[in-house]
Amino acid sequence: MKSSSTKKYSPTKGISLTQRDWPNQVISSPPIWASVDLRDGNQSLPVPMSIEEKLEYFDLLVSIGFKQIEVGFPSASDTEFNFLRRLVKEKRIPNDVTIQVLVQAREHLIHKTFQAIEGTKSAIIHLYNSTSPLQRKVTFSDASKEQIKQIAIDGTLLVKQLTANLQETNITFQYSPESFSDTETDYALEVCEAVMDIWQPTTENKIILNLPATVEWNTPNVHADQIEWFCKNMQHRDKAIISLHTHNDRGTGTAATELGLLAGADRVEGTLFGNGERTGNLDIVTVALNMNSHGINTGLDFSNLSSIRNTYERVTKLTVPDRQPYAGELVFTAFSGSHQDAIKKGIDRRAKDLKQDPNTQFAIPYLTIDPMDIGRSYEAIIRINSQSGKGGVAYILESEYGLHLPKTMHPTVGTQIYGIADKLGRELDPAEIKTAFFETFVNTHTPMELVDYELDHSAGSRGQVSCAATITLNGNKQNISGLGNGPINALTEAFANAGLKNFHLTDYRSHAITGGSDSDSAAYIQLQSDESTNLIWGCGIDSSIEMAGLYALVSAWNTLQTSNQ
Ligand code: KIV
Ligand code: ZN
Repeated sequence: MKSSSTKKYSPTKGISLTQRDWPNQVISSPPIWASVDLRDGNQSLPVPMSIEEKLEYFDLLVSIGFKQIEVGFPSASDTEFNFLRRLVKEKRIPNDVTIQVLVQAREHLIHKTFQAIEGTKSAIIHLYNSTSPLQRKVTFSDASKEQIKQIAIDGTLLVKQLTANLQETNITFQYSPESFSDTETDYALEVCEAVMDIWQPTTENKIILNLPATVEWNTPNVHADQIEWFCKNMQHRDKAIISLHTHNDRGTGTAATELGLLAGADRVEGTLFGNGERTGNLDIVTVALNMNSHGINTGLDFSNLSSIRNTYERVTKLTVPDRQPYAGELVFTAFSGSHQDAIKKGIDRRAKDLKQDPNTQFAIPYLTIDPMDIGRSYEAIIRINSQSGKGGVAYILESEYGLHLPKTMHPTVGTQIYGIADKLGRELDPAEIKTAFFETFVNTHTPMELVDYELDHSAGSRGQVSCAATITLNGNKQNISGLGNGPINALTEAFANAGLKNFHLTDYRSHAITGGSDSDSAAYIQLQSDESTNLIWGCGIDSSIEMAGLYALVSAWNTLQTSNQ
């Protein structure tokens, strides 16, 4: 923004509190959750959901555990009206779920809303009118504070009158001073108290006062101050449920909600993944999982978040961004090498700690929760690009393919694989990493291929083995033989006898491959060149552990020739 442009905006006003209690509070229990996906969420979709899609979404919300679900604005459109009628007719609303319907404080709309809820066991009638100075001036053409308050009073009177005639539906009344976040807080309270005077809530049958940050104009601390001031200054706090309904214009909807809860609110309205007008409503998934990550049981079940996201994306035709907290594709993925190494160490350490104490608290560097708790897996955590660390490739080969590379081999393999990622200019998936590893290090056959070999354990003195091998070198067949104290040593001697030994063998490891479909073994051999300080690794994989060792030697030898050139 140009500096001249900033002149048209006013500094934040804030709210003067003599004593501020919310900074000293902690969130220790969940609020009442109310989904507004099917109303605020739906009304902001470029392609609103069809009735069939809304029915599927409603069932999804029920399965997650929402007990209060705003099902629309039934007086505003036939689709919304018919959707609610389908829910009732098809008996889709579980006994412990209360539907909520939004209505403006206007007479004919309130009448239609009561028709829409006929046959429901319980319903929240959610009445709203806008109260801020800007809305009073612009939308209500300079209406006075008294006139705006009167709209709320008239609406409440009518809802009260119609409720008295209802037999079968248990009504809870909710009032929202829309645009609360930029309404004078004392005036918002005045309107809400006028509504309470009419409705006459009790401690058993409380009114819901929903205090929306319809537009997020301020930093979250100001929102918290507004909520705390409101709660502390109302006359009958015990007869009201204070509800939050934040939007995300400044990108701090989650923070505003969390601070609003510290400030005394009891209930939270929001949507899955933050769908809603403009930058969206509060993302309930984030707030609930934030609570889970501090050990609070929220009553909402996001243990299969990927499947919830799939349904959401299909019916809303929106896409959850890759970096969306908890739900985004990349949020359990570390690209940075140091992060990958720390995560791998954390996973290994945790496995060890759990063996000693199954109740060990979750603590892995860079992971706020265990991805498994929301149906995601560790395999996707580490992905490889050219900035990744040496541990990343080793982790993938171990966790996906059961290959336990010796630690000293990690840098060699890492450098090779990252070079490929760098050339391609993109990340490699596990299958590509495996292919690249195999092509470079495993059972290689250029310039030398081990075609055949025979071992004779009775040859030479006790414990000695003789090896007769057929190799091709640069396409030419050759028979070589040697005697040693084991197959690898015997083949090394055969190399020496044929004038092919230009190395010392400096390391050898082998293991059975874990988690694979067959029972192959892997062997790793490190050679040091006679001509340089180069340390070279090769790997052999075969159903015979002996053969795996010989392949590893030949593979290392092949690499040595290239590195000596
Ligand atoms: O954001 C808002 O103010 C609303 C009201 C209708 C509660 O959605
Ligand atoms: Zn809203």
